[in-house]
Amino acid sequence: MNWRIKPLDDILANAERRSLKRSLGAFQLTMMGVGAIIGTGIFVLTAEAAQKAGPGMMLSFVIAGFVCAVAALCYAELASMVPVSGSAYTYSYAVMGEMIAWIVGWALVLEYAVAASAVSVGWSNYFVGLMERSIGLDIPDAITKGPYAGGIMNVPAAAIALLVTSLLVIGTRESATVNAFLVVIKVTALSIFVVLALPVVSGANFEPFAPNGFWDATGLGIAGAAASIFFAYVGFDAVSTAAEETTNPQRNIPIGLIGSLALCTIFYLLVSAGVVGSIGAQPVVDAMGRAVPPGSPEFATICALPENAQALACSGEPLAFVLDLLGWDKVSQLIGLAAFLALPSVILMMLFGQTRIFFVMARDGLLPGADTLTKVHPKFNTPYVVTLITGIAVTIFASFFPVGVLADIANSGTLFAFLAVSIGVLVLRVREPNRPRPFKTPAVWVVGPLSLAGCGFLFFSLPPATQLTFLYWSIAGLVVYFAYGFWKSPLAKSRG
Ligand code: ALA
Repeated sequence: MNWRIKPLDDILANAERRSLKRSLGAFQLTMMGVGAIIGTGIFVLTAEAAQKAGPGMMLSFVIAGFVCAVAALCYAELASMVPVSGSAYTYSYAVMGEMIAWIVGWALVLEYAVAASAVSVGWSNYFVGLMERSIGLDIPDAITKGPYAGGIMNVPAAAIALLVTSLLVIGTRESATVNAFLVVIKVTALSIFVVLALPVVSGANFEPFAPNGFWDATGLGIAGAAASIFFAYVGFDAVSTAAEETTNPQRNIPIGLIGSLALCTIFYLLVSAGVVGSIGAQPVVDAMGRAVPPGSPEFATICALPENAQALACSGEPLAFVLDLLGWDKVSQLIGLAAFLALPSVILMMLFGQTRIFFVMARDGLLPGADTLTKVHPKFNTPYVVTLITGIAVTIFASFFPVGVLADIANSGTLFAFLAVSIGVLVLRVREPNRPRPFKTPAVWVVGPLSLAGCGFLFFSLPPATQLTFLYWSIAGLVVYFAYGFWKSPLAKSRG
């Protein structure tokens, strides 16, 4: 069988032909990484993790962070060798051939576009909470929730997704500047949280540490929470999607990837310790004393009970909630305001990543209408057609689906892409041992397999429905590939 591997030198030469402007340096890339990483995961999904794991969610943060760290080391090697846009998709094209690359690119839609939708919904939670806490405005559920929770459409989530899309059409340079400003807000908010929550940590709040055990087939337990909270770390790879817009990418991309991930991990461990230790994080349970999966109708019913009014697991904006409960109501509003202002930077980076991946896939002739899709705006110098199409899809998802479900689906796609990258780095070491590697993954024969095993473990700790969704999505992707890309790609024409 012809796997249609695209030689690395072809990829590098092709990227030079239809290129984007190089304007991003190491600092901006690290800011981009932090902008893409800190978001709905820590600000919103902490509550979901508490329901799944209880105080043991701290361990979930460690597990998910570890898997991301080993994956980031693999990413950095490939990103430094192939400094063109497209991330895991491009690397897979060079290493494992067109079909696998297509499936990876298809999975990256889940990672970036669905994640952008998830963050839009998380933002909407904080927006609604902020309106209520600060000016007493109670916006009806009908327009702030999708049908999954008895509403019609999440209007704030749709509005923010559209707003961010417009910002991206205007341009990278402007967007990166706005992003850096918002990153400062976000980091300040988390620092304030840590400073206020850590001093009141009490040992008793860590007991029992793992009320739902370690692993369970329904996605509960420390492993299930790790698979969900993995979302909190997703995004560092968005840095590598900007390779073609980066100065000295061989040096700057690895710095951006690893630097941003390290910074965020430190914050997450401190924040989760503060959350668990200050008010406790036990799951809410049904009449039989069993924890029910978050996001289910049964969970919503249990959360509506008066005795659960102060349960962390039931909060849609847990960081603001914790501070409120600790008596810092004004500061809690500020945290809400910070999330309100800063979560859009995450949506921005996710959308940015998605449009750049589509841009490269279209340039490779795998998407229909490539000439239209790759059009660069004459004034703003951005791929505006693909940005608009992506933005509209993200808006639709955000309008109608719950945050936890979207985050889990995004995780499934991301874990798959990470798997491909971990395999890719090993294959390339064997196949092209002498190709220059500006950044080398340390102990690659330990780190690569650990990344593979870790991603596989987290994938199979996701709820079964999420795993099935991923399977259906991949099958649909293969159908599209064999209906179009397989026949139309330039590699098909040149080699058959
Ligand atoms: N890591 C990003 C977030 O938590 C996707 O929002």
